[in-house]
Amino acid sequence: MNFDLILRNAHLPDGRTGVDIGCRDGRIVAVEATLDAQAGKEVDAGGRLVSPPFVDIHFHLDATLSVGTPRFNRSGTLLEGIALWNEQRPTLTQEVVVERAMRYCDLAVAQGLLAIRTHVDVCDDRLVGVEALLEVRERVKDYIDLQLVAFPQDGYFRSPNAAANLARALDRGVDVIGGIPHFERTMEDGRDSVIAQCELAAERGLRVDIHCDETDDPMSRHVETLASETIRLGLQGRVSGSHLTSMHSMDNYYASKLIPLIAESGMHCIPNPLANINLQGRSDTYPKRRGLMRIPELRAKGVNIALGQDSCMDPWYVFGNADMLDVAHMATHAAHMISLDEIRWCFEAITTHAAKAFGLEDYGLTPGCHADFVLLDAKDPIEAIRLRADRLLVVRRGVVLAQTPVRRTTLSLPGRPSQSSVAGYGPAWPAASA
Ligand code: FE2
Repeated sequence: MNFDLILRNAHLPDGRTGVDIGCRDGRIVAVEATLDAQAGKEVDAGGRLVSPPFVDIHFHLDATLSVGTPRFNRSGTLLEGIALWNEQRPTLTQEVVVERAMRYCDLAVAQGLLAIRTHVDVCDDRLVGVEALLEVRERVKDYIDLQLVAFPQDGYFRSPNAAANLARALDRGVDVIGGIPHFERTMEDGRDSVIAQCELAAERGLRVDIHCDETDDPMSRHVETLASETIRLGLQGRVSGSHLTSMHSMDNYYASKLIPLIAESGMHCIPNPLANINLQGRSDTYPKRRGLMRIPELRAKGVNIALGQDSCMDPWYVFGNADMLDVAHMATHAAHMISLDEIRWCFEAITTHAAKAFGLEDYGLTPGCHADFVLLDAKDPIEAIRLRADRLLVVRRGVVLAQTPVRRTTLSLPGRPSQSSVAGYGPAWPAASA
């Protein structure tokens, strides 16, 4: 059998080592210990980790790379970020948003990030962001799966034309229905907005992804409405609850009732640890709350949890590098998930779990899947997160999109080796079952 591409001697995220991956016509057709075959192109992975591409399940591509416009967020709060966005929004043009988003997509490819669910603000009657990101979705479709969420940043009911604009955005081809119930004027309005958005999703056959309870207020409980509406309308598997940070501050008894309800609803839960470790707890003195959803407890109940980046150099977050390993790294710290099993799980949360919430088809490293993968300068998922390892090779549909040479540092130290690499220092971890 002939192949277009064979990647040899790979370490897979599930722990298998010394594996060859054979690709033909844009698909993976063989994953075996030793492929006795020829290929148009062969790459030696050298025992390094090969992963399916990273998936960012929560991002704001209309705001990315705009940090400092018109000024920087001084308080570090979500609310000042929204206020800054409101100052910037009237000045936006389609050209500006497209140019920034395309530059970000270049960076994403370099980082092995080949699927992005981005929210796009619909509170500007011009729908500049929507038109821009529809254009970007079309321009990058051969190398990035871009999914757009119609997001009423200023509130579905609170912003005068948001509901109508959201419907217009869906008519234009935006994929997913968004919301922000904790930013509506009252708890009742927030609850009603979630119901309206879920009913709209049922009517149009679409997915839902709500910015839900992104607050330190333990009484912000819109997630229970989202879960119960998911069940009532039969939307299981199509609904995501993003942020859910109020869960961090909730009464433990209430959380013990809520978490099984979320599990029953089949809702995907999307923490954004880089953003929320920064945005939450801002009105606290000491101790300062971390402000993340209860990730280990949700995981224990079998909830699908996918980690999102949320922001990259925008009014809410000054850092970011399209690096999902950075997101996983923060999750291990902020959610106290530092056992080997939990670190491996965090790697799944930026790959397979996120692909599930996104609804990506034929994703993975088994025969029949798309020939999409990333070669990392790390021997396994734990080292990949520890180092935020370099992406040596990024492949989509069997075609190389990006390459980075292995980094080497020349040392000049008496009696010591002359060359060193950041990779390869870690111990041999116990097997995945340990
Ligand atoms: Fe967000």
